[in-house]
Amino acid sequence: MQISDAIAEARRQAEIWNACRYCEGYCAVFPALQSERSFSDGDITQLANLCHNCRGCYYACQYTEPHEFALNVPKVLAEVRHESWKKYAWPAGFAGLFDRSGVVIAASLIAGFAGIFALAQGMKPETGEGFYASLSHTLMVAIFTPAFLLPLFAIGISMRAYWRDVGGESFNLADLRSALFDAGRIKNLSGGHGDGCNFEDEDRFSQARRYFHQATLYGFLLCFGATASGTVLHYAFGLEAPYGFISLPKLLGVPGGILLCLGTAGLAWLKTKADPDLGAPKIWGGEMAFVLLLFAVSLTGLVLYAATGTSAVPVLLALHLGTVLTFFLLTPYSKMAHGFYRLAALARDANCRRN
Ligand code: HEM
Ligand code: SF4
Ligand code: SF4
Repeated sequence: MQISDAIAEARRQAEIWNACRYCEGYCAVFPALQSERSFSDGDITQLANLCHNCRGCYYACQYTEPHEFALNVPKVLAEVRHESWKKYAWPAGFAGLFDRSGVVIAASLIAGFAGIFALAQGMKPETGEGFYASLSHTLMVAIFTPAFLLPLFAIGISMRAYWRDVGGESFNLADLRSALFDAGRIKNLSGGHGDGCNFEDEDRFSQARRYFHQATLYGFLLCFGATASGTVLHYAFGLEAPYGFISLPKLLGVPGGILLCLGTAGLAWLKTKADPDLGAPKIWGGEMAFVLLLFAVSLTGLVLYAATGTSAVPVLLALHLGTVLTFFLLTPYSKMAHGFYRLAALARDANCRRN
């Protein structure tokens, strides 16, 4: 479906929701919807990025098929959402590629990068301990600095286009604070009454998706904190890796890796139980590839740590670095982009409520 077709279908459905209003208290989408009388493409895009795909409104709705209105709010909003990420991706076209062949792209990049890292170990540094005995610190910094900054730059361009299209007004720190607060609790996945969502099970409310997402989100942030603290220790205090267990990089990284592993495994499992037709079925494979990629990042990191001091370290190091590099480079084009768009949508929603 083209983005224009998906938006037209969402607009048709939005006009019915607006007349009915039964789902008013379910999530942030319905109050946002009711503040409008007609919906521009930007309004629909914003509503789509605000929807957390909890599926509560689908099971509550009396106008789903076989009714002639044939409403399916979670599905049509998932379609607009994914089409919008493709439209805003920079450079254009890369996101569509990942949608179509996510698993193949991620697996080939991991294998290719891991091979390059394994070959690079042939040029062993003269000094260096731990991982740096296999691969020099300078080489790692030279590869990972641009691999981290370039995707962020691409995401920045996409965010600017998104904010402009959804009619975002002057940015305010209070909006960002409110968005971070809602994102940190994944408030909109808790269901209208706080009993949880209906993601994997029709009429049964469950917090499972929300909790697995919390584990994934906070696990990821802890791993990020571990890397950032290692960088500060290295450059600001001259303390070089390897770090002992009682050190910030390890105290943040090990629990972070375990949380990320458990969270992504749980999200992948729920995904196999949920009805694909209440999301965007044609990109199911690309979404699953992203969840498994995150799982691989955490698992290879934990296995590498467990293998410290053994002869398996060089191979495991190449595999872990290849996986992390793949994850970074795919960020703007894989589902990882959702974190940025959803944060922007929550900020825009706070922005609307304030103005
Ligand atoms: C900025 C804050 C974030 C918000 C508001 C957010 C929100 C959401 C929501 C609403 C979903 C379920 C709906 C959907 O599948 O699109 C989701 C799925 C997911 N999120 Fe996040 N997210 C955030 C950040 C992150 C981060 C930082 C990670 C990990 C690095 C992450 C990993 C995942 C994964 C693995 C899924 C499951 C994907 C799937 O089932 O297809 N999220 N997120
Ligand atoms: S999803 Fe159905 S029940 Fe809910 S507001 Fe829309 S039309 Fe009404
Ligand atoms: S699926 Fe859930 S989050 Fe999305 S519009 Fe319906 S109730 Fe709101």
